[in-house]
Amino acid sequence: MSSTTTARNTGDVALLTDGRRVTLRLLQAEDKAALIAAVEHADPWDLRRRFMGTPPPASMLARQLVRADGVHDLALGAFATDGRLVGVAQFDRIGDEPTAEIAIEVAHDWQHDRLGFVMLAKLAELARARGVHEFTAVYYADNFAIRKLLQRVGTVVSSGYEQGAGYATIDLDAIA
Ligand SMILES: CC(C)(COP(=O)(O)OP(=O)(O)OC[C@H]1O[C@@H](n2cnc3c(N)ncnc32)[C@H](O)[C@@H]1OP(=O)(O)O)[C@@H](O)C(=O)NCCC(=O)NCCS
Repeated sequence: MSSTTTARNTGDVALLTDGRRVTLRLLQAEDKAALIAAVEHADPWDLRRRFMGTPPPASMLARQLVRADGVHDLALGAFATDGRLVGVAQFDRIGDEPTAEIAIEVAHDWQHDRLGFVMLAKLAELARARGVHEFTAVYYADNFAIRKLLQRVGTVVSSGYEQGAGYATIDLDAIA
């Protein structure tokens, strides 16, 4: 891992490969405005890849954020030093199931510097602490970035394609 993380009360500070720093912390109701701004300024194609189609209105995503209980559904945010929300990684699961579905988006001008990896690795750590042992993901079949990212974060135990969509299950317990 070429990035470093340091635990702090206010979150974990991560140093990316290009020298930029972000703070990783759980998203809370107070982050609604930052989330709405991030969605409204997001690259349209990134949004389509994230939601596999037309994204829901930003206000709906903000309402979901408020409802997240941090155990069954949890959203992790990455904040730039100017306070901008530049990445969101989240999981949700049914009840206390050990398998959770994930989704992630990194702002276009913050991609390729390991932020996706840092966020998903942190999400996996938080998930394991809450009894989650597997992540599942569904994505466009040509989404090489998320496929690579999943392989980096855990051990792929199954994957495949169906009608243009790719899917994978990764084992989090095999993380070194
Ligand atoms: C998927 C996504 C989160 C990756 O974020 P990122 O910050 O660029 O990821 P990283 O920099 O940590 O790169 C992770 C790996 O993916 C690779 N990668 C990143 N972008 C890539 C691309 N466009 N094509 C191929 N590989 C890519 C990197 O080289 C890296 O591999 P490596 O570890 O072998 O070097 C980002 O591309 C994104 O937000 N996409 C839009 C939303 C989306 O597709 N979400 C997934 C569906 S839920």
